[in-house]
Amino acid sequence: MTTQKNRLEVLLLVVVGTILLLTLYVYLRADSELNRKYDIPLAPLDIVAGSGTVAEGERLTRIRGCFWCHGASLEGQKYFAEAGKGIIAVAPDLTRIVRRYTPAEVARTVRHGVKPDGTSLQPAMPSFAYYNMSDTDMAAIITYIKSLPEQNGLEGRFEMLPIGWLRWVLGQLPPNVADLIDHTAPRPDPALTGSAVERGRYLAESICTECHGDNGRIRVPGSPNLEITAAYSKTDFIRLIRTGVPMGERNIDYHMVDASKYRYTLLTEAEINALYAYFRSLVPGALAE
Ligand code: HEC
Ligand code: HEC
Repeated sequence: MTTQKNRLEVLLLVVVGTILLLTLYVYLRADSELNRKYDIPLAPLDIVAGSGTVAEGERLTRIRGCFWCHGASLEGQKYFAEAGKGIIAVAPDLTRIVRRYTPAEVARTVRHGVKPDGTSLQPAMPSFAYYNMSDTDMAAIITYIKSLPEQNGLEGRFEMLPIGWLRWVLGQLPPNVADLIDHTAPRPDPALTGSAVERGRYLAESICTECHGDNGRIRVPGSPNLEITAAYSKTDFIRLIRTGVPMGERNIDYHMVDASKYRYTLLTEAEINALYAYFRSLVPGALAE
């Protein structure tokens, strides 16, 4: 009787111990994937702060949506949108980070998704879109953020939830954002591109790709391939971008409505025209304006 009870206890211990060890193994492997290092060389970034740079930097920061995730004073906040994927990220206090990192380190973090310690950010931070941002725009954004009062906001790394460990077992952990980027692709400098189509390409690739993706890699579910713009007259396109009201005045997803109302009101008329010219250039035979 006692020996049988003892055997049961041993068996129970073995089972519980195995489960604990397996859980620890899965956790450590998933954690080491999240802490993988990337060797991306630092590129120098010149900060040439002429008059008007801060104002232009603010406009670009708003258009690119940094406030949407990092908070109204860029003081940092928790970002739960990826929770279903097993990660809760912290979009951290940028007012302190731009003071702590060198400009080249900020630029590499934003454009390559690789922090000074070599680890990658999570894809909640849309570095795959910002990769395309020019040095001039990047420098203006840094100058602007540095001009903001320093906050005592939220910092800290993302938390992995148990469902994240499970997703690692299933091979479904969200990829590190650095894995979504071609780190050697040429980056267009808008200053060198005279034509409206090229200017539009630059704006589209560094702004709209945040949700609409590129090469068919859609980011926010429901956001269409932007070749849909071929169906838009210029007047309808301008109204959509400025107000979030699409053709046919349907109610559309709040991501697009909010981006239009709070961010794209700051695009100039020439920029919207350039976007329109670029999207139409993608569709052979698109109707003339
Ligand atoms: C859609 C939400 C979103 C937008 C838009 C966004 N960020 Fe982030 N950002 C995040 C999240 C979430 C993190 C943290 C990711 C992580 O911990 O892996 C982050 C991390 C960062 C970091 C790294 C900080 C560190 O700990 O080293 C910097 C720098 C940064 N963002 C700057 C910017 C700038 C500048 C913009 C605008 C051009 C911007 N972000 C727009 C969500 C966003
Ligand atoms: C924050 C995410 C986000 C950003 C950034 C964004 N969009 Fe969208 N957009 C969406 C979503 C989501 C939809 C789908 C809305 C729906 O059909 O409910 C959409 C829809 C559209 C549509 C189709 C409207 C229709 O008639 O169905 C166009 C055109 C468009 N976006 C253009 C742009 C352009 C141009 C930019 C860059 C200047 C941009 N979007 C940036 C999320 C975004």
